[in-house]
Amino acid sequence: MKRMVSGIKPTGSLTLGNYIGALRNFVRYQDDYEMIVFIANLHCITEYQDPAQLSKNLKDAVALYIACGLDPKKSTIFLQTDVPAHATLGYILSCYTYMGELNRMTQFKDRMAKNEGNISAGMYTYPCLMAADILLYNPDYVPVGDDQKQHVELTRDIAARFNNKYTETFKMPEPLVQKVGARIMSLSDPSKKMSKSDETNKGCIYLLDDLKAARKKIMSAVTDSVGAVQLDKVNQPGLYNLIEIASSLSGRSMEEIAEEFKDQGYGSLKRYVADVVCAELEKIQKRYQEVLDSGILEEVMAEGAKKAAVIADATVADVKKKIGLQF
Ligand code: TYM
Repeated sequence: MKRMVSGIKPTGSLTLGNYIGALRNFVRYQDDYEMIVFIANLHCITEYQDPAQLSKNLKDAVALYIACGLDPKKSTIFLQTDVPAHATLGYILSCYTYMGELNRMTQFKDRMAKNEGNISAGMYTYPCLMAADILLYNPDYVPVGDDQKQHVELTRDIAARFNNKYTETFKMPEPLVQKVGARIMSLSDPSKKMSKSDETNKGCIYLLDDLKAARKKIMSAVTDSVGAVQLDKVNQPGLYNLIEIASSLSGRSMEEIAEEFKDQGYGSLKRYVADVVCAELEKIQKRYQEVLDSGILEEVMAEGAKKAAVIADATVADVKKKIGLQF
C-alpha cells in the first residue's frame, strides 16, 4: 500500500479551505493508502499563541479530523510533539537547507514585503521542519492545498541533496494537489486565500461556525458587476470561488453548476452555495460534538503517536548513522 503524509497547523479554528483543500481528501484516501496525518502544533508557535487558546485549538482540530471522517482504525493520527523525531530531523535538515532557498519561500517573502518586524527564526526555518514531517515517513504522496506545494518541492530538493551526499535515504515525495478546490479564496476579497488569520472574519468560513453566520458570510460574499453567472476566473473571481466551493462539496462539476444558474441572479447561486456548505457543516458539527463527548481523543492520540514513532525513530536512527552523529 502506498503511503501518504500530511498535517494541518491549527493556529486558529479549521477552515472550509483546510477542509476542501486538505482534510476531506485525507478522508477519501484513507481506504486506498496508508494515511499518516498529524496536528502540526510545532508549526503553530512560529508566532505567539495564547496558551489556553492554542491548547483548545489543538483539541478541536483532533476532534474535527475525526468528525470529518478520518478513522483512527485506518489512519494514524497524532500530535507532532508526541513524536520528538520531528524536531530532531527538523534541526538536522535545516543544516542541509540553504538560506537562499528559505528566502524564496512565498510565505516568508510576503511577510518581508509587508515589512513585518520580529519575524521569528522558527518562522524562517519552518519549511525545514515541514520537510522533516514528510521525510520521516518516506511517503509516496503529500496531499496538500496549492499554497503548500512549494514547501513539498523544497522537501524534494532537500531529500535529493541528502541522498546525493550520503546514500539513498529518503524517498522522493510527490505533492498531491486537487484540480478543483486547491485554493479556496476569501469571500470578502477573492484575490486572497481563505485563511484562518482573516482579520475581518467575513471572508473565512470556519468548520465550527454557527450555520446562520456561515450563511450570512456566503450571502454577502464579494462578487462583481458583470451580472451574469459564468465561469470567468479572471473577471469574476468571487463568483468562480463560490462555484468552486459548491462543486468541491457537491461533487457536481463547476460547468454544470454555472450552467444551472446562468439565467438566474447571483442571489440564487449564493443561496445554493450556502445550502451546500451549511449541510456539510451541520454534518461535521454534529459528529464533532459526538467525538468530544465520547472521550476517545487521548487514546487515539497516544495510539497514533506510538505507531508513528516506530517509523519516525527508525528514519532518525538511519540519518544519524549516515551523518556520523553517533559512535
Ligand atoms: P495549513 O495549516 O496552513 O493548511 C493545512 C492544509 O490546508 C490547505 N489549505 C487550503 N486549501 C485550499 N484553500 C485554502 N484556502 C486553504 N487553506 C489551507 C493547505 O494547503 C494545507 O494542505 N505547513 C502546513 C502544515 C504542515 C504540513 C506538513 C502539511 C506542516 N507539516 C507536512 C503537509 C505535510 C500548513 O501551514 O498548512
